[in-house]
Amino acid sequence: MSYSEQLRQTARELVAPGRGILAADESSGTIKKRFDSINIESTEENRRAYRELLFTAPGAEAYISGVIMYDETIRQGLTDGTPFAEVLAKRGVIPGIKVDKGAVQLAFSPEEKATEGLDGLRARLVEYREMGARFTKWRAVIDIIGDTIPSTYCLDVNAHALARYAALCQEEGLVPIVEPEVLMDRDHTIERCYSVTIETLEQVFDALHAQRVELEGMLLKPNMIVPGKNCPTQVDHRTIAEQTISALRRTVPAAVPGIVFLSGGMSDEDATARLSEMNKLGPHPWELSFSYGRALQAAALNAWKGDPSNFEAGQNAFFHRAKMNGLARSGGYDESMESAA
Ligand code: 13P
Repeated sequence: MSYSEQLRQTARELVAPGRGILAADESSGTIKKRFDSINIESTEENRRAYRELLFTAPGAEAYISGVIMYDETIRQGLTDGTPFAEVLAKRGVIPGIKVDKGAVQLAFSPEEKATEGLDGLRARLVEYREMGARFTKWRAVIDIIGDTIPSTYCLDVNAHALARYAALCQEEGLVPIVEPEVLMDRDHTIERCYSVTIETLEQVFDALHAQRVELEGMLLKPNMIVPGKNCPTQVDHRTIAEQTISALRRTVPAAVPGIVFLSGGMSDEDATARLSEMNKLGPHPWELSFSYGRALQAAALNAWKGDPSNFEAGQNAFFHRAKMNGLARSGGYDESMESAA
């Protein structure tokens, strides 16, 4: 099979009906914050044990098509030495890897960020592919501050890097997940989120086109269109679903096989309910799925609390969220299902 056919097939498998992606690619700094919240120390063994809990949860593979790992995680495995990439692949879950090196202050615009990690990327991709990865992720961070941020400069720099990353991945046979995350913090209105997201996605798809990225062999990981967390005017799930679909229809070509949302700090139930609302409004030109980090993991983390005797409770909590989001893939989720668990 040619790389191009492989890419298309992997991208379609990742957004297969009823399934979506677990983002378990927290960097060492981010996982420490998550562990701090349950008062456990961020040791290498604790990080390994926690990822084992997620990756071996019985039955979750029915709803989870792929897992995004962090560099340390893809080098770890079960206590018997079986690498996590192999554990996942055996369960029919596609191993993936975050390949960016994080967002740093943008030169000449101290309130904005640019994502690093292009230097030496081609060689790292070859290594990850040999370790079993079939897809990758790169996250750009776009903040909304007042009327002037994000600047066109910031969008341009981040779109260019996302496209460079995506092209390199496709050349190496890895499906890129292109993630331009417009942050949901602060107090902006839903209208402002809508216009910033449209501008961001326009720049991103211009750059992808200029750099010859094959749209059929990639996935987009965007934010939903929401008011900032501190905006006094909040809206219902239906409005968020309609606005998000509207923004995506204006900017994302139908050749892209799937859109996998980030959860961005929304509550577990909100992230699920909003995805379900969007799928109820279908059919859409692309699959609408999830690539959640916090919204798939928060319940599991709180049930586990770092205590080996809670391992199964953590797995059950993860299974439940995976199942709820799996149902949301076809608009079949209802909030009453939460209490039935
Ligand atoms: P959240 O769902 O917690 O936003 O994480 C998704 C992700 O991978 C962000 O890069």
